[in-house]
Amino acid sequence: MSQILPAGSLTGKTALVTGSSRGIGADTVRYFAEAGASVVVNFRNKAPRAQKLANDLRALGVEVLVVGADLTDADSVQAMFDEVARTFGSLDVLVLNASGGMEAGMAEDYALQLNRDAQVRVLETALPLLGEGSRVVFVTSHQAHFIRTTPTMPEYEPVALSKRAGEDALRERIPSLEEKGIGFTVVSGDMIEGTITATLLERANPGAIAARREDAGKLYNVAEFAAEVARAAIDPVPADNTRLVGDIGSFAGE
Ligand SMILES: NC(=O)c1ccc[n+]([C@@H]2O[C@H](COP(=O)([O-])OP(=O)(O)OC[C@H]3O[C@@H](n4cnc5c(N)ncnc54)[C@H](OP(=O)(O)O)[C@@H]3O)[C@@H](O)[C@H]2O)c1
Repeated sequence: MSQILPAGSLTGKTALVTGSSRGIGADTVRYFAEAGASVVVNFRNKAPRAQKLANDLRALGVEVLVVGADLTDADSVQAMFDEVARTFGSLDVLVLNASGGMEAGMAEDYALQLNRDAQVRVLETALPLLGEGSRVVFVTSHQAHFIRTTPTMPEYEPVALSKRAGEDALRERIPSLEEKGIGFTVVSGDMIEGTITATLLERANPGAIAARREDAGKLYNVAEFAAEVARAAIDPVPADNTRLVGDIGSFAGE
């Protein structure tokens, strides 16, 4: 992977990316570490993968804390931020990346629990650690961001609705975040090639990825989209708090 953020731009800062054991979260946390940040790798199940990533990042010379936490569990979230507080004392960047809802065998409202309630809980629990000048980034998909005006595949619809509900609940907090000097940006992207979600959607809906690729002209891969997420944490906050990645031609207005 090439250096995405300017070298040393995050030296002395601390960044936490939820769900950073794999996928977009893992690449995002790596970009922060490459820019000199101390980082917190959060995972739910994939402890060995998170530890391996942490070892790779330590080789860059940065401090890495690995914390397992199920974000749908309030005690688990509190314990994670207690550990962050003990280790680093504060947080400069919080990326709300972890997501789900297509897993088999979960409660009917699991998507809402994770994609709305847990996102708000994570932000509120992190607030005491986030000071003036710190940044919060919420990661979502165009299929979720535009769900009110552009229908999506039926298999993804409950997830899309829950992620949009989470985005709305977080946006309600923008004024109070701004009062504290905390910047908030939503980063939204189209389906990402090579992810588990894309694979699941393709399995349920053969041809879905090729159709999206054709409509959009190009689909981002994990490393490319993660680079946009990482940049959103240091670029100025857009006036509408929204960073839309790639072509949105086939999505209707919000
Ligand atoms: N995939 C796409 O096509 C696409 C497109 C646009 C936007 N996005 C957005 O990008 C973000 C990342 O997507 P991705 O495809 O990289 O996801 P992913 O591969 O499914 O990874 C999800 C991450 O979230 C963690 N996680 C899941 N449930 C959790 C829970 N209850 N508590 C704590 N962590 C939990 C997972 O941890 P474990 O590994 O330990 O289970 C994993 O690290 C999401 O917000 C997604 O909406 C994705």
